Amino acid sequence: MWAREQGLKCVYVFVANDQPDAKCPPGFKPMDVRVEYELNPLLLAKGSVDASASMRPDEQEAVCALARRLFTETRFSRDAGFPPARVRELYAEWVRRDSTGCIPGCQVIRDGNDIAGFVTGRMDPHDATRGSIGLLGVAESHRGRGLGKHLLDQACRVFTKAGASRVTVVTQEDNLAACHLYESGGPIIARGRWYHRWY
Ligand SMILES: CC(C)(COP(=O)(O)OP(=O)(O)OC[C@H]1O[C@@H](n2cnc3c(N)ncnc32)[C@H](O)[C@@H]1OP(=O)(O)O)[C@@H](O)C(=O)NCCC(=O)NCCS
Repeated sequence: MWAREQGLKCVYVFVANDQPDAKCPPGFKPMDVRVEYELNPLLLAKGSVDASASMRPDEQEAVCALARRLFTETRFSRDAGFPPARVRELYAEWVRRDSTGCIPGCQVIRDGNDIAGFVTGRMDPHDATRGSIGLLGVAESHRGRGLGKHLLDQACRVFTKAGASRVTVVTQEDNLAACHLYESGGPIIARGRWYHRWY
């Protein structure tokens, strides 16, 4: 009733430390399990910052195209209530948002003229020792060759150079590739389940 009065179509609820046998809030559907890792950027960052890995403005559209394609296992893509084109655009917009004026911004790995992978992130505006990774993706044909790790390392180098000593990253518990990648950098510090309800 309240949601309809407010003109809301979908409401999300996040339940921290949700147990596997927990009851779903009435009317809501369980979506994904969110896990947040705290990475030690000093442990991950190796070598000096490679400035050539920062995304160039003329590469933004290629990175956005990759972002539209890669993030298909999130609660937004799984929830049939969201139009797929709008969901894809959410990730492109995320790249654009994290590209300008933030550290580490968008870092890329190139394969000739193509983008093989990218990572975005930003420093916490209220705490100069903290940063967070936004999106990290590797094109399907380049996976399993260490590029994901390289991107994490690259982002951490830039974060470290900017003064961050703690970096967080969020993914879904059933994203095994991402969890495996982030486990190498630090422990899980928060876990919980997202629920969606449509009106
Ligand atoms: C997650 C992702 C970035 C990994 O990229 P990648 O280049 O294949 O990863 P790497 O080759 O660097 O592998 C890193 C680690 O993850 C492991 N890994 C990679 N793919 C895996 C999979 N499908 N299942 C289990 N482990 C996997 C590797 O074995 C490696 O671990 P190791 O060092 O112990 O051997 C890639 O799968 C991807 O782009 N997925 C879609 C987008 C996404 O979900 N991004 C993460 C959430 S923001």
